[in-house]
Order: sequence, then structure tokens, then C-alpha cells
Amino acid sequence: MTLPCSVASSRIAGRGTGSTSSFTYVRIAAGCFPEERDRSGVWRYRELLPFSDDAPIVSLVEGNTPLYDAPRAARYCGLNALKLKHQGCNPTGSFKDTGMTTAVTQARILGARTVVCASTGNTAASLAAYAARAGLKCAILVPRGQVSHAKLAQSLDYGGIVLEIEGNFDDAMRIIRELAEDESIYLVNSINPFRIEGQKTVAAELLQQCAWQVPDHVVVPGGNLGNSAAFGKGFRELFELGVIDRLPRLQVVQADGAAPFAQLFARLEQDSTVEDSTTSLTPIKHPQTLATAIKIGAPVSWKKALRAVTQTGGRVSSVSEQEIADAKAIIGRDGIGCEPASATTVAGIKRLVNDGVIGPDENVVAVLTGHLLKDADYIIKYHQDSLYTHDRASNRSKEERRITGTFSNAPARVKATRAAILQHLESHDQSHHIEDRSFD
Ligand code: F0G
Repeated sequence: MTLPCSVASSRIAGRGTGSTSSFTYVRIAAGCFPEERDRSGVWRYRELLPFSDDAPIVSLVEGNTPLYDAPRAARYCGLNALKLKHQGCNPTGSFKDTGMTTAVTQARILGARTVVCASTGNTAASLAAYAARAGLKCAILVPRGQVSHAKLAQSLDYGGIVLEIEGNFDDAMRIIRELAEDESIYLVNSINPFRIEGQKTVAAELLQQCAWQVPDHVVVPGGNLGNSAAFGKGFRELFELGVIDRLPRLQVVQADGAAPFAQLFARLEQDSTVEDSTTSLTPIKHPQTLATAIKIGAPVSWKKALRAVTQTGGRVSSVSEQEIADAKAIIGRDGIGCEPASATTVAGIKRLVNDGVIGPDENVVAVLTGHLLKDADYIIKYHQDSLYTHDRASNRSKEERRITGTFSNAPARVKATRAAILQHLESHDQSHHIEDRSFD
């Protein structure tokens, strides 16, 4: 919904913290978007961005992502309703595009020739695409063998120089930061503030889709924690401008095997005497999760993310590989789907509802960060009951490491006859009803 300009202006004038905000942001609150650059779901909120009006924008018409109702996922979580903001519907299939448009625009303003990043796959794909649009050389560092085929394929196709290193994402991150000490090289990981600026506009787009009614909880996956930081900044700025009158609680969810931020949060909760200024995150040396996008042990933006969580009264939690896999399948069954990392949100919400942190009637939005096709191998394995965790060091047997295909939907081999197909369809109907009841 958009507000008529006059209504928007009185809303803002009534609640703004300063007189300048009364007029500058009216266009946004009113949904007045007449220009070419307004086609971008990021640049349409340009008054919130630190760019001049004639910035040489590099855009792929990012943002504009849907906010879906997800009744099946809601029921699975124990909620009356659940909304999913699908950032996987961006041009390269992940939320990274909303920050890459601003970071690569800034690279162009600075006259950079080479843009670089370390990545678990999505940042790489996004950077490669935007660098191609801008005509910049692009080098990306990825941990060898730990990036999904789809993400790697994207980076190759967009013309990125893909450098595979031995080690994990945190190693790649360390090396790329050293590399970026060279002035001709521009780093666009989320420690780059221009990435955060673009990503924060998702908060505005989301709120506009909610008719500026603030959800009780916004739930995001946590990896390197740029996204959590960006949502925190976006909501805080809109609140300070008077566009909204309260903050949603930001809930961050990590995978159990890669949850340094959740561990830090648990420590802070247990020991309330620890001062924020003396807090520090203990990195995890060998993070493990099949949700490779968030297989990160030393997240760079944890301080900003912690501020976002504490300022909004949110929490940080973590979920198991089994919970992620099942939640992912349920999101698929709403006809939506996402990549594994994104499903931590629905898995996390289920837990938070169980623990009484989220009430069944509360208004909850989960942010799906990546498209279902980003990691097809994972999906095929889950549905064929052949998905295994990698934590071989723990001496667990292969069977103990198997993820159960609780909601699996394996392909069937049938005879090429009408009778065989009809018979299969009938038995399939029955098994679907059983699954429906399993989470009622
Ligand atoms: N979901 C997906 C699909 C991601 O690709 C990432 C991060 C996250 C969640 C976590 O977001 O890092 O801002 O907390 N992917 C990065 C990458 C690390 O290189 O593509 P975050």
C-alpha cells in the first residue's frame, strides 16, 4: 500500500525527530516513484543513501522482491500467520544484489579498476554480475569445494576471475583484506559500508509492503552478519526519521556448527555484568554446516549486528542441520522455496515459538536470502534420503550423520503405462495426507 502524499507528510511531520525529515522523506512514505531509477528497489529509497543525485548508478533493477504469505510454514512454526520476504528473487538470486548496486556504484565513483571479495558464493555471483555491468575487473576468492555449483556457475558466466583457495571462508576473508590494502583494489565485502547502505533499504521496502505497520519480529539468517547489521541500521534510521514509531525485534539465526554469534549472545545473556565494550566474539576455527552460505566462523560485522539485536530487543539463536533441512522442505511446500541458509529463519521461528519468545498471534516476517535453485544438489539429496553432514572428525558413523528426509518427496520410477501412473498417483495422495498431519 502507498499513502497519499498529504497523509504521508502529516505522519512524518507528526513523528519526525527534526524538521528537515518532515519533507525529505515524504516521497518515500508516499510511494511517489516516477523516475527511471525508481525501478530499482534500492535507488527508489535514494534519500536514505549517501550518494549525490547524479551518482553514476550501476543497477540490474534489484530489489522489488515479493512478500509472501506462507500458511504452511506458519502452521509448521505454530504461528497463525507468517510472511516471507524473498530476497532470492533479486537479479542474481540473492539479497547481495541490494548492497552490490551501491558498492559497485561507489567503486565507479572512486575510479576503481578492480573490485574484489571473499565469498561463500552469493557475494561472488552478485559482484561478478555488477562488475560486468560496470565494466570493472572482478576477482573473487572462494573456499575450494565449498561453494555450490550454481553459485560458481554464475560467477564464471558473468566473467568474474574465480580464485579457489585451500581453506575456508574465514581464510579467504583474511587474505582478501590484506590484498585490499593496495589502493587500486576495492573490497566489496559487507565490511564495506556502501554494501550495508544498499542492503538497509530492504527494511524500507519491507515496511512499505506492510503498509508501514511494523512487524513484531523480523528474522534473518546470520553468517558474516552484514545483513543483520543492515536491517538494524535501516529500521533505526526509519524510526529516527519518524517513518515508523517502533522497532521490530531483529532475530538472528545461525546453524549450530557455525554459530559464534549465537554463542556470544548466550554468554552475554548468562552474564549480564559483561560490558558491551569488553565483549568479544570467539571465532570458531572449523565451522561446519551444509548451509554453505553461512559456513563462517569469524563474522566480520558482529559488533554492528550485536548493536542491532540488542537495540531492538531481539535474540540470536542457532538450529541443527536437521531442523534447517526440514524447514527448507516446508518452505518449498508453500510453493516458495529457498536455499538452505535461508531456511534457518523458519527453523529458528519454530524454536522461538516453542520457547515462548514469539507468540502465536504475533506478526512475523522471515527474510529468505537466497533462491531455491542456488543449491539444487542439497535438495535432491534431502528428497532421496542421502543428505549427510560433514562432521567426520566427531567419529559419528555415516548413518548417524544422515539427515532424515522428514518431508521428502523422492522421484519415483514408474512403468510407462497409464495404469501404473494412476496407481502411483493414488498411493502418493495418501502419503501426502499423512505428511500434512505430521506437523498439525
Ligand atoms: N543467506 C545467504 C543465502 C547468504 O549467501 C549469506 C551470506 C547469508 C545468508 C548470511 O548473510 O553474511 O550478511 O550474515 N553469504 C556471504 C557470501 C557470506 O559470500 O555470499 P550475512
